[in-house]
Amino acid sequence: MKRIGVFSSGRDAPGTNSIIRSIARTSFEYSYEVIAFRNGLKGLIEDDSFLMTRKDVSGILPLGGTILGTSVYDHFLENPQHLVAVKKTMTKLSISALIGIGSFATMKACSFLKEAGIPIVGIPATIDNNIPFTDYSVGFFTATNYVSESLDRLHTTASSHHRVFLVEVMGGQCGWIALYGGLTGGADLIIIPEKSYSIQEIKSHIKKRENEGKHFSIVVLADTAGFPSDISEKDKESLRDHNGLLQFLSKEVEKETGMETRQLILGHLQRGGTPLASDRLLGTLFGNSSVKSIRRGETGTMIVYRNGSISQIDLEKVKEKKPVNLDLLNTARIFY
Ligand code: F6P
Repeated sequence: MKRIGVFSSGRDAPGTNSIIRSIARTSFEYSYEVIAFRNGLKGLIEDDSFLMTRKDVSGILPLGGTILGTSVYDHFLENPQHLVAVKKTMTKLSISALIGIGSFATMKACSFLKEAGIPIVGIPATIDNNIPFTDYSVGFFTATNYVSESLDRLHTTASSHHRVFLVEVMGGQCGWIALYGGLTGGADLIIIPEKSYSIQEIKSHIKKRENEGKHFSIVVLADTAGFPSDISEKDKESLRDHNGLLQFLSKEVEKETGMETRQLILGHLQRGGTPLASDRLLGTLFGNSSVKSIRRGETGTMIVYRNGSISQIDLEKVKEKKPVNLDLLNTARIFY
């Protein structure tokens, strides 16, 4: 009899429940027990856990968020006492292997636990899609779809009022949501952290569209796009930590183009809602694969999706966030 421990940590992602359901159902198939930890790494450290039953994972497939709860435990790696606590919990509960679900930081924490000798498998789940070695992370398509649908809605009002909209989206230091959401929602300009941009570029592009008879523009910016290259030191100083950057850019655009400009931050709505079929499918396959991997005695890995199939990579390879391919940004320009 094996006992598998599972936790979901870091910022939540839609589709996580399909992973949890798949881990539980696959485990039950092999007559393994599943111990679920509440609230991510925090629950693992504090041993806030329960034995999962079929009932716990019934009806959860369409639910956003995570039924286990989560926590952002960025300082996990810094405190040696945390590792001692995790080891103690595992021994106490006779857990043979852990499965950690979550964001880039969670995969780093899983890698740390692996290095400390703990049998663990990681599953990438973040709307940001910034975890390397996997084409997609669970939750990304649902968030992207939300951005795309939001831009559809904005198009009608932006074109009716002949306005410019600056739309801020999430991304965790990467431009995946901005690029995929912008491309599929018909953005007229996409600004991402992987490529520098300027105020002048935004203004000129809006004016060019205006001259072409397009009397509205929708600009999508990733929340970590940073300051434009041509901002003055004084303006940078007054904006402190990017707060008010959207408003600042908005005023600059209005000044130069004379077009009414509005700002919209899509914020945490991108993380909510019922997961799309593609995220449920990826979650189901990832969860199933993680338990099979433990069954084969293979741990210390992260489950990934690459070139149409599910495989695994060594957790230690997860070092840097995955930037977008700039070729796709060039493709997006065709549609501006
Ligand atoms: O899910 C990751 C992420 O969406 C980042 O893109 C964003 O910067 C962050 O979460 C914000 O999350 P919170 O406000 O919950 O800390």
